[in-house]
Amino acid sequence: MRSDAEPTAVQTAVPDEGLLKYLVYTSTPTRQMVPEDFESILRTARHRNRRVGITGILLFRDDCFIQFLEGPPAEIDALLDDIIADERHHHLRVILTETTVDRSFPDWRMGFGTPGAHEPAGPPDERDSFNDLAAGADGGTVRRAADDVSTWFKAKEHSAAS
Ligand SMILES: Cc1cc2nc3c(=O)[nH]c(=O)nc-3n(C[C@H](O)[C@H](O)[C@H](O)COP(=O)(O)O)c2cc1C
Repeated sequence: MRSDAEPTAVQTAVPDEGLLKYLVYTSTPTRQMVPEDFESILRTARHRNRRVGITGILLFRDDCFIQFLEGPPAEIDALLDDIIADERHHHLRVILTETTVDRSFPDWRMGFGTPGAHEPAGPPDERDSFNDLAAGADGGTVRRAADDVSTWFKAKEHSAAS
């Protein structure tokens, strides 16, 4: 599936952005997901995210979504309301919100990954960072796991591109 990496388009579309909201949530699908479901979610997501200046990644493993969203605070809040109301998933739990000036995923209008078992593991103790996020660990662990996942996703995309 495409990663939607389009660095130049993003850089020219959103110069000088000011404060951004960074948000991570987990949720559970309401039914068995098939590839067409992901394609449909990503098609809508990339279209709207491009329009409103949102970037991020969506991961799916073990019947659990984890999504990282970043962008103008009002747009993130409006999108989250729509995502919460989306009947394709439920039990949505926001596990991290921060204010930032730098994007973690500037190249992805919505990257997508389906990590395998024990992926992405965080150094040095081979923790399963996906599980740390899915289990909603304490704040420090969630922050560290979010960084691990972000590093893992970028390395995976980089090696796929080269
Ligand atoms: C797991 C999941 C992740 C989603 N992520 C996004 C997203 O990043 N951006 C987006 O616009 N819609 C996303 N959606 C779809 C929204 O819930 C909603 O259908 C969409 O924003 C409607 O946009 P529209 O009103 O502009 O058509 C997601 C849905 C699901 C189930």
